[in-house]
Amino acid sequence: MIRRLCLRTAARSFRPAVYRRYYHATMTSDDPSVAPSPAPAMIPPAVEAAAPEKRGMVVLAPMVRSGQLPMRLLSLKYGADLVWGPETIDKALIGTTRIENPETGCVDYMRAGLVIRLCPPREKSKLIFQLGTASPETAVEAAKIVSQDVSGIDVNSGCPKPFSTHAGMGAALLKDPDRLISILKALVAGVGPSTPYALPISVKIRLLKTIDETHALITNLCKTGISTLTLHCRTVPMRKTERAIRDALAGASDICRAAGVRFFVNGDVKNWAHAQSLIREYNIAGGAMIAIAAEANPSVFCDTGVKEWREVLADYLTIAMETENPFANTKFCMMNLVPGKQPLREKLARAKTFREVCDAVGMECTIPEERDVGTVKTQRMTAAEERDAQAKKEKDERLERLAELKRRKAEEGEGAGEETGKRVKMDVQQAAPMDGVVPLPTVGVAEAVDTAV
Ligand SMILES: Cc1cc2nc3c(=O)[nH]c(=O)nc-3n(C[C@H](O)[C@H](O)[C@H](O)COP(=O)(O)O)c2cc1C
Repeated sequence: MIRRLCLRTAARSFRPAVYRRYYHATMTSDDPSVAPSPAPAMIPPAVEAAAPEKRGMVVLAPMVRSGQLPMRLLSLKYGADLVWGPETIDKALIGTTRIENPETGCVDYMRAGLVIRLCPPREKSKLIFQLGTASPETAVEAAKIVSQDVSGIDVNSGCPKPFSTHAGMGAALLKDPDRLISILKALVAGVGPSTPYALPISVKIRLLKTIDETHALITNLCKTGISTLTLHCRTVPMRKTERAIRDALAGASDICRAAGVRFFVNGDVKNWAHAQSLIREYNIAGGAMIAIAAEANPSVFCDTGVKEWREVLADYLTIAMETENPFANTKFCMMNLVPGKQPLREKLARAKTFREVCDAVGMECTIPEERDVGTVKTQRMTAAEERDAQAKKEKDERLERLAELKRRKAEEGEGAGEETGKRVKMDVQQAAPMDGVVPLPTVGVAEAVDTAV
């Protein structure tokens, strides 16, 4: 108890004084001085009565690792209105090769390994691709690369992690608003709604030190031509476990509404009903974005209530196998879906293959055995092996046709000796171009086939 109190006090001390003042003045249900209450299971009647018809969008937040393909598809299945992809650094995307998998419908952006896997048939119309960037030029170049597979481009301007900020990306852009504005303007001009790419551009920011500073930044960002803005209601130094601060919310939403920009609130949103409640309470012109609660149970997007974790886990694993999600990521996300002390966590922690994960959960493994190898690296090799196998198959078919040709000629010219051999070689030369292969030199059949493939 004492430890909890200390932790809460420590957490409060991170809040800038100005927010603390407004915070206590407003005394919203988020008052940090009271113990966290369970998330509402339904929209409070008073809120429902005030605006029964108003429903905002509820969307999946960008999450590195946790926001990979299966989590996005599962969130959509449970009712998420849009899904943000995990932050992908523009420079990592530039130079990738786009590889389609006709079996799964997935598209891999590959460089030395898998950079990101998307599944356009199942998510494109609702997928917002988030870029980590510090430069207008590379942002536009990267956006063009994925443009055909996504429905919007978002710029991460809130990540406080050193890997993002040291390169001038994420939260570093909040300290360099001119650069952020130039990136957004470049994206609007390069791939935005009035270009042939027709992609809406958005940005995700955090609170600045004061409400006025936050509102001033939002006002300027709204002039760049963006379509959507998300406000993570925590300042940069605040940790993800700290209570979100809502004081700047209503004003931020008003600024966006006046500018015709859709607005999402992010931070501490528990589930669909809680999202609707916030949307009404703060008169939000757009919707709410959920991260951690969705990472633990993506059925938070259901408007009928959250589902039991076992059902969610089974749904997740089914999608992970359908899309052949990298094993390490599958295991990581599944561990997040299993509540604290369940013995299943230990079994999952020990699993090294999809088969072992399926055994632990009691499901049938649908990943072909030869592809159940577990890592991004080996999956990449499997893709290369598949290409080799296809080439070998074509080579075998050609070889068979040539052997058949040889057999027929031998039958026709039985006893003709040396002459038969010559004729076979000539036929090989004539047959090859029909197969779309370069003309063969006049050599023995096996040699000729090797040259052709
Ligand atoms: C595992 C994890 C990964 C995250 N990755 C990103 C990211 O790639 N881009 C981003 O803008 N925010 C990222 N965030 C921040 C979330 O999008 C969100 O702003 C934050 O968690 C607050 O929302 P919440 O209170 O619902 O968790 C990440 C958060 C978590 C927990």
